[in-house]
Amino acid sequence: MSTVLTEIRGPVGLATLNRPDARNALSPEVFKELATALEAWDGDPEVRCIVIAGGDEWFAAGADIRDMASRGFQDMLDSPSTGFWPRMAAVRTPLIAAVSGYALGGGCELALACDMIVASERAEFGQPEILLGIIPGGGGTQRLARLLGKQRAMELVLTGRRITALEAEAMGLVNRVTKARDWLKESLDLAEVIARRPPLAVRLAKQAVLAADETTLAGGLSQERRLFELAMATEDRVEGMQAFIEKRKPEFRGR
Ligand code: HXC
Repeated sequence: MSTVLTEIRGPVGLATLNRPDARNALSPEVFKELATALEAWDGDPEVRCIVIAGGDEWFAAGADIRDMASRGFQDMLDSPSTGFWPRMAAVRTPLIAAVSGYALGGGCELALACDMIVASERAEFGQPEILLGIIPGGGGTQRLARLLGKQRAMELVLTGRRITALEAEAMGLVNRVTKARDWLKESLDLAEVIARRPPLAVRLAKQAVLAADETTLAGGLSQERRLFELAMATEDRVEGMQAFIEKRKPEFRGR
């Protein structure tokens, strides 16, 4: 049985973590299967947006503790979890985390590594690694500090405290909070809106926004300008502007 179920819904790729017996803990197989699915969709022009989901009760309870317990330093260097994060970061298609239930440790980091997070009112986020004698290793310290500011990131990482979806929303960690039964539908709805946008401009826009985390304001503004100029070179922008002038709906072709 696959640990990640994949499904195409129109222009949206839906990857569902599928290890219910282990609360969707991220085993080496999950890391491998998820990275493979993301890369395949990223190379498929029909897939315009990707949703990564868990189940109602748990998004993912973190990296697999049973697997980690038996790994030494060398084994960790070679583990699929080490290779996973850069592979995910290289995906140019927008990624939405659809979170219901627990998103803990590596599960929280998986959601944070997505471009947007839609959370059920029953979602809970946290970095409990400290309780196991380790620290986050999938980007948690860096992404939380950038998103929430140092003080709040420090508290979550040092205490391991879990926060509710509403707290996460107030802190700016999630894009929106949905009713308990609507988290997947609202995630897919958001993905479909993005999927209708001109795909080249979408990828350029994602790259531009992500540059804000990587560089100075002047450097980021300069990158944005180059990416804007690239967008100006696409056929889709000619179509988009012509359609506006002719008062009709644009037909974007990803060129
Ligand atoms: C392996 C896990 C697991 C995990 C749960 N299970 N979380 N197995 N790795 N991260 C397994 C349990 O061992 C148990 O298996 C079954 O799932 C059900 O778990 P329970 O604890 O009985 O369920 P529940 O009472 O509902 O509590 C759910 C929970 C709790 C709050 C999510 O399981 C929990 O605290 N899990 C650990 C969370 C955590 O510490 N995450 C951080 C991991 S470190 P059996 O066989 O007994 O039924 C990490 C580092 C990231 O993520 C580094 C970068 C990748």
